[in-house]
Amino acid sequence: FLAGVAAFTLAATAASAQTVGFSQIGSESGWRAAETTLTKQQAEERGIDLKFSDAQQKQENQIAAIRAFVAQGVDAILLAPVVATGWDSALEEAKDADIPVVLLDRQVDSSDDLYLTAVGSNLVHEGEVAGQWLVDTVGDEPCRVVELQGTTGSSPAIDRATGFRNSLEGHDNIEIVRSQTGDFTRSQGKEVMESFLQAENGGADICALYAHNDDMAVGAIQAIKEAGLKPGSDILVVAIDAVPDYFQAMAAGEVNATVELTPNMAGPAFDALEAYWADGTMPPKFIQTESKLYTQADDPQGEYERRKGLGY
Ligand code: AHR
Repeated sequence: FLAGVAAFTLAATAASAQTVGFSQIGSESGWRAAETTLTKQQAEERGIDLKFSDAQQKQENQIAAIRAFVAQGVDAILLAPVVATGWDSALEEAKDADIPVVLLDRQVDSSDDLYLTAVGSNLVHEGEVAGQWLVDTVGDEPCRVVELQGTTGSSPAIDRATGFRNSLEGHDNIEIVRSQTGDFTRSQGKEVMESFLQAENGGADICALYAHNDDMAVGAIQAIKEAGLKPGSDILVVAIDAVPDYFQAMAAGEVNATVELTPNMAGPAFDALEAYWADGTMPPKFIQTESKLYTQADDPQGEYERRKGLGY
C-alpha cells in the first residue's frame, strides 16, 4: 500500500512540474552568461522544466522560439528581448494561447497587457547613477566624455543614454564628445575605444569613459593601456553591471565605478509565476531590482570573490 502511495505521489509531482520556455538573447556579455546560469539554477531548484533557447542576438530567432514554445503548450515563457520594438504579434499569440510571458531585464514597446510582468532595473536610473558619479567626481573641472552604447534599439542602450544625460544637465563642464555602439561586447568595446583614442589626440583629450556595460569597458581599458595611458586615472571609467571581471579591474585600479544590475532576474520571475499558477495572483506589471553604485572604496576584491562564489 505504501509503495502505491509513493508511486502516486511521484506521479502527481511529475504531472504538476511546470514547463517554462526561456528565450535568451545570446551570450554577448559576462552579465548575460550569469543571467543564463542563474536562471537554469533557479529552475532546477524549483523543479521547473526549463526549455532554453539561445537567439544569438537575432530578434527573428526569439520570435521563432516564442512560437515554438506556444506550439509546445508551455506553462509560461521568459523573454529577454534583444530590442524594444516588434514584439506585438508574437506576444499576442502567447496571450491567445493563455501562456503568461515574463520579460527579463529589457523592456518592450508593446502594450503591457501582452505580458504578465517585467522583471528588471530602472534603466534610466542606472544611467543617472553613473552620470551622477561622474558629476560628483570631476566637480567643476572640464571633462570630455566618450560613450560606448549598448545594442542599438535595445531598451538599456536607449535608457542608459538618457539617464546619463539627465545627470549631466546643468554641468556644462562635462561634455559627451563621442558616442558609438559597442553592441555590449568586449571585442567591440575595445575596437570602438581604439577609434575614440585615435580621434581624441591619442586619448590625451579624453577625461572619462562611460560604457553601457562592464564588458565593453573591460575591452576598452585594454585599448587604453595599449595606447600607453592608465585607465582609472588618465581616463576615468564608469559602467553598468557589476560583473566579476570588472571588479578584478577595479581592484587593480583600472576602472572607477559601476552600477549593479543583478543577473538573478529569474528568482523574482519564478516567484511571480508560482503565485500566478497557484491561485491566479496577478503580480505588479514591473518588478524592480536594485541599482547600487560600487566604487574602488567598496572592497572590489571581496565583491569579485562573492560573485564568483554565487556562480557568476
Ligand atoms: O539587458 C541588460 C544588459 O544586457 C546588460 O547590462 C549587458 O551586459 C547585457 O548584454
